[in-house]
Amino acid sequence: MELKLFSGSTHPQLAKAIAKELGIPLGAVELKRFPGGETFVKFTEQIRDVDVFIVQPTCCPPNESIMELLIMLDAARRASCGRITAVLPYFGYGRQDRKDQPRVPITAKLIANLLVSAGANRVLTMDLHAQQIQGFFDIPVDHLYAAPVFVAHLRQRFNRDAQIVAPDAGSGKMAHAYADMFGCGFALVAKRRVSASEVEAPYLVGDVNNCDCLLVDDLSSTAGTLVQAALRLREAGARSVSAAVTHCCLTDVGIDRINASILDKVYTTDTVPVDVSSCPRIEVISVAPLFATAIKRIHQGDSISSLFSLESGK
Ligand code: R5P
Repeated sequence: MELKLFSGSTHPQLAKAIAKELGIPLGAVELKRFPGGETFVKFTEQIRDVDVFIVQPTCCPPNESIMELLIMLDAARRASCGRITAVLPYFGYGRQDRKDQPRVPITAKLIANLLVSAGANRVLTMDLHAQQIQGFFDIPVDHLYAAPVFVAHLRQRFNRDAQIVAPDAGSGKMAHAYADMFGCGFALVAKRRVSASEVEAPYLVGDVNNCDCLLVDDLSSTAGTLVQAALRLREAGARSVSAAVTHCCLTDVGIDRINASILDKVYTTDTVPVDVSSCPRIEVISVAPLFATAIKRIHQGDSISSLFSLESGK
């Protein structure tokens, strides 16, 4: 079966970078809007019996991104392609993964159902908000981690004297894994969410005095979590505070907060488009090579577990 890679309209730069790594051209697909706002999709090259990969992070605007991806999946399935892999470098709505109040949805599960109903045979994604989201799918999910890419890039800067810090309890396990990879210490800030955009970070577990601290998180949106945790670390005597965040889905408020914060640097990946010009402290590290390798291995029927080791980030 031939491999072809297509992009939705959310992040064509990443899809192009993956295609370049794979040494293939990006597939031709027409994506347009009718005057009333409805989406139209047409694959303008042959995809019958082809192994199709469609790249679309479901980031801002999330509803548009998801709908366009669903329509692309439907079009691909109806064109008799051999297999369809939905490549979601960022899986939006991941934070709505449980029913923690009465009469609320589990939207992450709804999105999983929609992707499968529309025609996805497999999913390839990175740093889901919660690992359990993989179980929302009854099709294979390949889940990549940005950690090896960050660690390979930042190993010189954060050595054994540094502290890896979880900015809330939810990211504790992830931060532990980073601390193991860097071979350095671990601390945790206890966060309390006051509203969708406001957080408090009243407690710190661990000693960060005179340390270079690296906050690690899957996602930043309003940056309240990062900025409040950074302040708490500075109060506790941290020498410097930076952050490594896989998905930089920053709102305007988030950009302003980072620009006004004590954070030295925010390292992120290109799973979603990032406007570095509005926030010069952000440094983007590409995960395109990792996605390209994963796609090649999925296509060839090879294991991808070796991509979780540190060497894969180099
Ligand atoms: C929460 O559990 C996530 O891991 C992030 O910490 C959170 O979503 C970040 O949101 P914000 O940037 O708005 O504080």
